Amino acid sequence: MNPSQRSHGARQEASSIVRGVEVQAPAKINLALQILRRRPDGYHDLDTVFQAVTLFDTLRITLGEQPPKPPLPTSAERQLYVAPDGAWLEIESPWQVPCDETNLILKGLRLVASETGRSPAGVGIRLCKRIPPGGGLAGGSADAAGIVAGVCALWNLKTDSAGQREWGARLGSDVPFCLLGGTARGLGRGERLTPIQRTLGFWVVLAKPDFSIRTAEAFQAFNSSRHFPPFDINLLVRALEESAFSEFLPLLHNTFEECLADSHPEIAKVREDLVGAGCESALLSGSGSTVWGLCRDESGARAAANRLKAMYPFVAAVCPWNTGPQISQAAVSNPG
Ligand code: C5P
Repeated sequence: MNPSQRSHGARQEASSIVRGVEVQAPAKINLALQILRRRPDGYHDLDTVFQAVTLFDTLRITLGEQPPKPPLPTSAERQLYVAPDGAWLEIESPWQVPCDETNLILKGLRLVASETGRSPAGVGIRLCKRIPPGGGLAGGSADAAGIVAGVCALWNLKTDSAGQREWGARLGSDVPFCLLGGTARGLGRGERLTPIQRTLGFWVVLAKPDFSIRTAEAFQAFNSSRHFPPFDINLLVRALEESAFSEFLPLLHNTFEECLADSHPEIAKVREDLVGAGCESALLSGSGSTVWGLCRDESGARAAANRLKAMYPFVAAVCPWNTGPQISQAAVSNPG
């Protein structure tokens, strides 16, 4: 190969590599959740403790990459949407997830673009879904946080984290926490956040039954039920800060469990199954339908998860995760 051929080859190689970022977006559970009141705007004021956990959706976001060429493998698990402006979204998921403009990923992309005067054209997003939707694990909100953080990195935007959380709040009540990650108390709709310096270590078993609960439907159940005695989340925060496992154990409480007890009696059964499998306690996550079980250590969580695998369509052993979305650079070769 002569030098001119070599430099031509190098140019070709350079032009087929596109810049991108890969984002690992964590799921969350609620260690406690108290619904305080219905607000005049239709939302509800909450007092909750969020915890990010080690179950991640992955988003790969690139600039200038051609969308995958049809025909895609004929599988319900892989969908592609190409927007009229050329932005595209490919979703690989074992669950049905909308792959169109209603997906929070595209809403998040368009929000950041319009706030910063950028064009979404040429942005390609591949989502690999591992967080089950409709489960109270913030699956959609994690993806929204992932696109906001990821596209800010891709476009080298100087937006600070508070600015990103303000955009996140417009996409959904849980999105600001999904951007912050770690352990945090959430007030208001859940968007007024105070980080908690958690020192308590534990493991968690997630078990999602074969039905989902829509968040709005769960809040409706609260509106039409009697009012429940308040509980003190300050005690739970202290137990988390002071590493007091036995104090923490009896403080797990979620108002939604009481509101949904009549319409979804299966939730109590999932709790019983988690405790029967070896968890020390169990609680509904957010508005469900996932129930999480508390374990002292990894081996206990893995043993309990193994016992439950045959009983529920989604079971995972996870542990607390101390940040929000993790971003790394990704260079991908452009098949186009
Ligand atoms: O904020 P997000 O879009 O995730 O909320 C979905 C629905 O859940 C809202 O339309 C509202 O009915 C209900 N919601 C609520 N109070 C909250 C959060 C959500 O009533 N704090």
